[in-house]
Amino acid sequence: MSLLLINNIGQLLAVENQGRPYKRGLEMSDFPIIYNTWLLIEDGLIKEIGAENSEAPTVKNAIDAKGSVLLPTYVDSHSHLVYASNRQDEFAQRLDGLSYEEIAARGGGIINSANKLRAYSEDALFEDAHERLQELIKMGTGALEIKSGYGLDTDSELKMLRVARRLSSVSPVEIKTTFLGAHALPPEYKNDKEGYINLIIDEMLPEIANENLADFIDVFCEENYFSLEESLRILAAGKVYGLEAKVHVNQFNSLGAVSAMVNRGALSLDHLEVMTDEDLNSICKSNTIACLLPGCSHFLEIPYSPARTLVEKDAIIALATDFNPGSAPNGNMSTVLSLACIKMKLKPSEALIASTLNGAAAIDLSDKIGSIEVGKIANMMILKPKYTIESIPYHFGHDLIETVILKGEIQ
Ligand code: NIG
Ligand code: FE
Repeated sequence: MSLLLINNIGQLLAVENQGRPYKRGLEMSDFPIIYNTWLLIEDGLIKEIGAENSEAPTVKNAIDAKGSVLLPTYVDSHSHLVYASNRQDEFAQRLDGLSYEEIAARGGGIINSANKLRAYSEDALFEDAHERLQELIKMGTGALEIKSGYGLDTDSELKMLRVARRLSSVSPVEIKTTFLGAHALPPEYKNDKEGYINLIIDEMLPEIANENLADFIDVFCEENYFSLEESLRILAAGKVYGLEAKVHVNQFNSLGAVSAMVNRGALSLDHLEVMTDEDLNSICKSNTIACLLPGCSHFLEIPYSPARTLVEKDAIIALATDFNPGSAPNGNMSTVLSLACIKMKLKPSEALIASTLNGAAAIDLSDKIGSIEVGKIANMMILKPKYTIESIPYHFGHDLIETVILKGEIQ
């Protein structure tokens, strides 16, 4: 049995004692804080949380939090962490005035990444992604969703998912994987979309299920990518293998996908930058999580999702990085939290719940992580002295994290 005490905690944030999987709407700004307290970890799990102003037990192995804030580590519920090399050449084109869509239409974008990834070995992909993951841990990410979607053929999609599973086996970060074969149409199927969809359904999905490589399924439902009807077909095929839907929708256009996918019980709908009233009404009344990606809006200079309206209409909001080489080359959840406050007008407390508990719900892990609760995995971070939760959006881009603890181990 291994015990670790964290003593002298000034503020213990986002304690959630009722075992709820998420908070919705205005509840997101209401979370209990315990002042001047301590926390005991046993074998990687949260064993006991002290009462306010209480005396800590005597434990040999102890950390002095020096009166600082302790909060759960971030849950990044939407990332494309496994990729082969950057797309800085496209960034230069964007700075010269081309749009993301124009670059994609010239064979750049997702296809550019797929061409690069196909030529990469599994080991090289793993090494690169592992290095990025180590950086994310320092930035306070304790759980992460990773998508495929830069392979676009059976071998390469499986290669990506195997790399994600391998990362999970070596890292203390909790990792869930999502199959995104329908991310774009690969060049060899340029004139045969039906053929590619059949490849996804008849070949990729059975092989992925056979090796248990994915937890969820995703589709890029967007003009010039996959239509609503095509997306629903692919998601239905995934459901046969027990893969819940987490879907890229409404990034550039509203195709009516929000209500259709809410009605089919999607776990999360991600992006939601362009929202009609009908889209808003259908997701706000539902248990489908709205996963918002302000880093992508910032980087591509596209609209931000109407987060304030979503909160006021009682939606469940998660925030994530969308970390990928094309539309959001930044995996820092503190930056995302900051953008969410500055650009989407979330309150710091709402942004924190969206980045922790609700992110965990968006990858079906909120029974294990996402809040400081007895019995949950001891994933938490201590801020540098004197900073509060409001300091994270305020000092945008600064590193305010002193210590990261994952599964009870100091990182
Ligand atoms: O979430 N929109 C689709 N997929 C990614 C971007 C992929 C890329 O440009 O490489 C996104 O923004
Ligand atoms: Fe994405």
